[in-house]
Amino acid sequence: MLSCDASDETQHTTVTGKRILLIIGGGIAAYKCLDLIRRLRERGHSVRTVMTASAQQFITPLAVGAISGDRVFTDLFDRADEHDVGHIRLSREADLVVVAPATADLLAKMACGLADDLASAVLLATDKPVLVAPAMNPRMWLNPATKRNVATLQADGIHFVGPNVGEMAEQGEAGPGRMAEPLEIVAAIETLLRKSDPDLPLAGRHVVVTSGPTHEPIDPVRYIANRSSGKQGHAIAQAAAELGARVTLVSGPVTLPDPPGVQVVHVETAQQMLEAVRAALPADVGIFAAAVADWRVANASQQKIKKDKSSGTPTLKFVENPDILKTISERGPMRPGLVIGFAAETENVVELAIKKRRAKGCDWIVANDVSAEGGAMGGDRNTVHLITAQGTESWPPMAKIEVARRLVERAAEHLKQSQVNV
Ligand code: C5P
Repeated sequence: MLSCDASDETQHTTVTGKRILLIIGGGIAAYKCLDLIRRLRERGHSVRTVMTASAQQFITPLAVGAISGDRVFTDLFDRADEHDVGHIRLSREADLVVVAPATADLLAKMACGLADDLASAVLLATDKPVLVAPAMNPRMWLNPATKRNVATLQADGIHFVGPNVGEMAEQGEAGPGRMAEPLEIVAAIETLLRKSDPDLPLAGRHVVVTSGPTHEPIDPVRYIANRSSGKQGHAIAQAAAELGARVTLVSGPVTLPDPPGVQVVHVETAQQMLEAVRAALPADVGIFAAAVADWRVANASQQKIKKDKSSGTPTLKFVENPDILKTISERGPMRPGLVIGFAAETENVVELAIKKRRAKGCDWIVANDVSAEGGAMGGDRNTVHLITAQGTESWPPMAKIEVARRLVERAAEHLKQSQVNV
């Protein structure tokens, strides 16, 4: 009845024919689930649904059943259901369990391991990956109790998509708490489904990526930064996850959303970035795409520096930041098997990057032309050269996500070759 084989329609993007168990919680965002179900079915997935009692206050089981084309499960103690399917089977006969909207109440139940209704019993019984799409009022999301529950669930390996920041259903309320849009949830679902596919080229591999700028404080309100958007590094993290890797993305401050299915560690300074990278090791591949500040302010003030005429214009003293790429490239038991650095140059791009590869001790350098014509800084396209011990390959201009996919495919081939040659 339910197909469970997966086939990739294209090399990177589509997973189809999977069984999704969607648990619908009681929030106004429940109406978006009808679209979510439709989008999943369009992609060839089957969707079984469980609705909590409060979800049924927002949308009806009749509507959900009509769109999903399957029975809707609502009751833990339904004799027919328990005999026919049962909460244990329901939780196991799926490739992935999705909770949307994941209300504060459902998250709390999950964090505590409660099982007093069908939804929570299924969540406690499942042996499958679980993705939650939180949706609640910003005050509820920011409440310390919810924060504790989210941290517990993350530590338990539960995957999150959203919430987004924006307007609430309540007039005049805005902030973090809007449920991710159906297509964002679909993207997160497909990333997770791909990850559990053992045939993917990076399945079972750990990839650590750095991305974005760093912010180096001058005082508690001012900092030194650079123009890096993080688009290339985030695209690499996404591409590695698409190929089945477990990905840790150490990101400086950016305005981009966290890529789906990627473990993101948010940092501000170069020192924090190095610590986070070290904590994420060991890894099979390290890709260092962040634009790390070369210097930090040695005499950063603990208090806001005042515009005080008597003390005159402040003088900043700088001290060199750790070179993360160079530090991690040094030989040692924690060195990833493949270390890839980036080199942003405006002239003599290849020549300088060849020198940089040696100076940093990394295996490959992706040299990108950040001159105005290249359009790399902040843009969606990039023109790069891949520099390895064997030579230089110049790639045509392409979208950053395409650069990312090509790079991680090359990394996967390299790992496979090294395994063959051992
Ligand atoms: O030396 P430069 O900044 O041009 O080198 C670029 C490469 O080195 C990038 O891969 C960048 O992420 C990495 N880098 C680093 N730590 C620094 C400076 C650069 O990891 N402090």
